[in-house]
Amino acid sequence: MNVASVEEIRGCFPALERSHAGNLVGYFDGPGGTQVPTAVVKASTDYLLRHNANTDWRYPTSIETDQLLKEARVTFADFIGCSEEEIVFGNNMTTLTFHLSRTLGKSWGPGDEVIVTQLDHQANQAPWRSLEEECGITVHTAPMLAESGKLDWDALRKLFNQRTRLLAIGGASNALGTVNDLEEAARLCRAAGAYFFVDAVHMASHQLMNVAEIGCDFLACSSYKFYGPHVGVLFIRKDIGDSLLPPRLPCTKGYLPESFETGTLNHEGIVGAAAAVEFLAGMSKFDGSRRERLDAAFGTLTVRSHRLLEFLWHGLEEQRGVQLYGPGPNERRTPTLGFTVKGLDSAAVVERLASDSGLFLSHGDFYASGVTEALGLGQQGLVRAGCVCYTTEEEVKRLIEGVASLCP
Ligand SMILES: Cc1ncc(COP(=O)(O)O)c(C=O)c1O
Repeated sequence: MNVASVEEIRGCFPALERSHAGNLVGYFDGPGGTQVPTAVVKASTDYLLRHNANTDWRYPTSIETDQLLKEARVTFADFIGCSEEEIVFGNNMTTLTFHLSRTLGKSWGPGDEVIVTQLDHQANQAPWRSLEEECGITVHTAPMLAESGKLDWDALRKLFNQRTRLLAIGGASNALGTVNDLEEAARLCRAAGAYFFVDAVHMASHQLMNVAEIGCDFLACSSYKFYGPHVGVLFIRKDIGDSLLPPRLPCTKGYLPESFETGTLNHEGIVGAAAAVEFLAGMSKFDGSRRERLDAAFGTLTVRSHRLLEFLWHGLEEQRGVQLYGPGPNERRTPTLGFTVKGLDSAAVVERLASDSGLFLSHGDFYASGVTEALGLGQQGLVRAGCVCYTTEEEVKRLIEGVASLCP
């Protein structure tokens, strides 16, 4: 096998040694944030212990810091399929997106339009909506279809016109696992002459991205969703980024990527985030470019996690009182599944799964409140189970049995 086995991968995560309720913990909370392998923690720690300095000075630790940040940009350029100047680092996707929206909003006003979607996380709605008040633009929301958990593409198409300045769309839904047709989104944006922004926070842990193939102008992700620390990454297409004027200190470099980075960066986090990409590439056991190794690793992880998703979907489907949401296992989706159990609040379901079976799941609307609204779910929202690189069949079986024991 040229990609590490699940057992080998699990050996890299100390968190997986934790027990709860007499069981090894089964972490199904990956869509909210994955566990972190030792190599990533070591990279951040090593930076702080041996190379810590501010940037742009002439002594060794500062030069090393500059070098490590540069290498991290190159690593993320490989991860996203762009050039290193197009990689902007920041706190998280939400902050970077607010910063970008404010920058773009400077040249927009009444009559300009932006499209967001009901399927998306608030982080890909609120930054764009804030421009309604700040500069008088109009924001339209493309609805989702409750039955399928997919976007209503006909409705989305109708929202485009010559006044459309930007489409903000998710690569995949963090609540339901729905994967959006980004090719079609790119085509619609091109036809309208609109910018194309992709929230890839959920997608990035399940699919190797290539911004050139996607055809987007901007794409944001967060390394804590794919085995790294809490760092956000924003791709800005160079020809666009060079002509934008982000709010910044007068002394900040006036060119990409630093023009978009406010203040001192989280150096240790960025070094750790790059180590997370290396960790993913390192799952492939052959000599090849980083991109080739990432490609092989993601290929294998996708097959494995889809098998788990199918097993989980069919196992839960058989339980009386379980309602599954979103696209079925034969459709394009991530291995993230939303469900409810009849007669039980979602909070009660996750509490029981933790206390009875040592399984950690999240519940609520996951800041994708448009989704839970469209599904007619109240505040309790959904229970969410996400499979990631360290999830095993045994854990999925335990989850199915745990849910079965709660069913009426
Ligand atoms: C799909 C999606 N978009 C955006 C976000 C927000 O990302 P961040 O926490 O990096 O701001 C999340 C976080 O859960 C998410 O799942």
